Amino acid sequence: MELNELLREHLRKYSAYEPGEQPMEDGWLKLNTNENPFPPIPEILNDIKNAVNEKIRLYPDPTSFELRKEILNVLLRDKDTLTNRNSIFIGNGSDEIFDVIFKMFIDPGDEIVIFYPSYGLYKVLATLYNAKITEIQLNDDFSIPDSAFNAKGKLMFINSPNNPNGKSYGNATILKLCGSFPGVVVVDEAYGDFSTQTSLPLLKKVKNLIVNRSFSKSFSIAALRMGFALADPEIIKEMNRVKLPYNTNYLGQIAALSCIKHSNKIFERNKKIIEERNRLTEELNKFNGISVLPSDSNFIFIKFEDKSKTLKFVWDLKEMKILVRHFSKPGLYNYIRLTVGMEVDNNKFIDAFQKIADKYL
Ligand SMILES: Cc1ncc(COP(=O)(O)O)c(C=O)c1O
Repeated sequence: MELNELLREHLRKYSAYEPGEQPMEDGWLKLNTNENPFPPIPEILNDIKNAVNEKIRLYPDPTSFELRKEILNVLLRDKDTLTNRNSIFIGNGSDEIFDVIFKMFIDPGDEIVIFYPSYGLYKVLATLYNAKITEIQLNDDFSIPDSAFNAKGKLMFINSPNNPNGKSYGNATILKLCGSFPGVVVVDEAYGDFSTQTSLPLLKKVKNLIVNRSFSKSFSIAALRMGFALADPEIIKEMNRVKLPYNTNYLGQIAALSCIKHSNKIFERNKKIIEERNRLTEELNKFNGISVLPSDSNFIFIKFEDKSKTLKFVWDLKEMKILVRHFSKPGLYNYIRLTVGMEVDNNKFIDAFQKIADKYL
């Protein structure tokens, strides 16, 4: 058997997504993958433990009916968005939602529009589905350039707040893009709960918009892989037709329901992450030779004036068992993306950073 001859042809040029490092042993300070530093609250862990019973013999609800109801009635109650239960899709994390969207819209050669830099999975999926990719470079301040309003294609992906720089895009811009773009605009709000802005209300005005959100970041259940998307019921109907039958699992559904039940408590605790983000930004901005971009998210993007110093920091931090994210990609070599941790984590990071800065800055 010649495996290469059996593989779909375009997979030969396909480079898979490279997730941030996930060391399995203890002792690491993980500030590299934008997870929530706080553990799930005890009430949620209890609900999950209680759900580990004979029911796991059965398949989960393929439509996540209860969860859709609670997302609309409780979680998004104040968001001035769609309220129809058929306007929501539950996915195995946001990542599965993007895959479903590609599966639903993209034939080989169809055009999609993404921005650079942004979340790397959009491009990986576009390559996997053999789409023609138009990649629009964001402006120097990471705002969306005017050329985006002339872009054509079937899908456009906007990440707000944008990973890796943390900037949110206002609704005026997103509405204008929905007006100018002939296809569907996907706004990835995986970090939306950390931002003051959301495009959820726009769903009442335009039909070519999908907004997705995640339970991974703000709710501390990344391992359980739960996310959801809101869109016009006609779009959601097609997403449900192409998804795998049991795409989300029972324990994930239970955990997400519990997150919603306790969302006030969780959002209250997340305020500490925002405070810490602002403190980290202020503290790090005191160092010479670096600057921190304003962020609307649970991570910050640190810019090094001297590109050659960046990797020295990454490696020295790693030696101190602190993981941060560096992207070896054009225009990003001189940046480090840092997830905001708990106060104690951030203090540890600042101390380590100071030691390294004494050597190199
Ligand atoms: C911008 C963005 N979107 C989506 C995801 C994935 O979210 P989920 O865990 O819901 O699949 C990530 C994960 O890092 C992300 O950075």
